[in-house]
Amino acid sequence: RAMLLWSVWSVVLLLTLVDAAEEDDDVRAGCSTAVNDLVYIVDGSWSVGFSDFDTAKQWLINITSQFDISSHYTQVAVIQYSDTPRLEISLGKHQGGADLIQAIRSITYLGGNTQTGRAIKFAVDHVFPSSQRVSRVKNRIAVVVTDGKSQDDVVDASMEARAQGITVFAVGVGSEITTSELLSIANKPSSTYVLYAEDYTTIDRIRDSMEQKLCEESVCPTRIPVASRDEKGFELMVGMNIQMKAKKIPGSLVSEKAYALSAYVDITEKTRDIFPEGLPPSYVFVATLRLQGFSSKLTFDLWRVLSKDKETQAAVTLCGKDKTVTFTTTSITETAQRIIFQTGFQVCTLYDGKWHQLKLLVRPSQVTSFLDDQLIQEINLEATEPIFINGETQVAKRIGDDTTVPVDLQKLRLYCDPHQSERETACEIYSVVRSSLSPA
Ligand SMILES: *[C@@H]1O[C@H](CO)[C@@H](O)[C@H](O)[C@H]1NC(C)=O
Repeated sequence: RAMLLWSVWSVVLLLTLVDAAEEDDDVRAGCSTAVNDLVYIVDGSWSVGFSDFDTAKQWLINITSQFDISSHYTQVAVIQYSDTPRLEISLGKHQGGADLIQAIRSITYLGGNTQTGRAIKFAVDHVFPSSQRVSRVKNRIAVVVTDGKSQDDVVDASMEARAQGITVFAVGVGSEITTSELLSIANKPSSTYVLYAEDYTTIDRIRDSMEQKLCEESVCPTRIPVASRDEKGFELMVGMNIQMKAKKIPGSLVSEKAYALSAYVDITEKTRDIFPEGLPPSYVFVATLRLQGFSSKLTFDLWRVLSKDKETQAAVTLCGKDKTVTFTTTSITETAQRIIFQTGFQVCTLYDGKWHQLKLLVRPSQVTSFLDDQLIQEINLEATEPIFINGETQVAKRIGDDTTVPVDLQKLRLYCDPHQSERETACEIYSVVRSSLSPA
């Protein structure tokens, strides 16, 4: 009996070890390491023309470059269509970006009519199901690039795609496109899933936005309901169990509720549970908070992501003594880069014992800070790296240890869409509401 127990125990132990080893393998996570099956469905009808078709191929190559192409991460398939769809590259055929780019480059132009519905159906029925990792893949995404009106119906095929959990982006190029058709092809909301380019020569202009959207789709699965719309992002008040662990208190307005973190509350979660796919390249960090008493004089991380070795991967640090706000992120050359916001009067207000909204708009090459809707400063960033997700994510912690700093929190969120920065106004802050009501 003892022997049997022992062997069961060692098997369990062994499995745990294997698990742990696997977990440590790919600990950095971000857009590039997202597990996507991505299918491009490209219009190759006569109206496109040889040279624009080449441009379309180059554009696909460009938007693919942000992903790590491999059987672990993103796999790409390409369908060219006119009257009938032609499978140019099957899912997972190319392991490695260089091979894939070469293969996309050598696709030859088809010519013919435009049967977009048929091509989408082909992707749904044959290409996505051919994936060798149907159970492991996290996101199934189709990008339909078209320059004209389809000669067949697109509605049924697109509905089928959604029924199968495939996210469809529609990219319309040129003036011949039919908006209603793009709307039926793409997921909702159309502001997210439909993109337009004037013509192929200007398609490069929507590259950043396509990349950001593909990335959001890959790393931001959670949705936060905001004013009847669903915004992609991370609701940390819920995810970090703040609402469960901290004491409920009245918020900045009668209509708002907030939570008081005392020194005895520990807000710590595994990063893997909060940001399983890492952070997107752009995001908006929003915190509505109140610092009272001693806390307004301390230096602490309002929010931080630490690696297993306690190295900061991302953090927003408040320093009441210096009256500054510091943003920390990764760097490809140093262990971290620290951006200090300290524009006098404005940042000072944060430490005056009242409710305030702090907002940081993080983009790949700069970070911009706002306090109660007022711009504080915009500062450039060096290139960053994906974050380590094998450590912990914490809220309101002293620098260098695990002590909680008492703080009142009403909102703590990360939005993935950088445009949410313009929409997320500080209307829950009394002084902001008041000044918008008073005749300025
Ligand atoms: C692709 O990227 C290159 C390098 O950034 C750029 O010069 C080119 O215009 C892009 N082409 C398209 C079609 O997006």
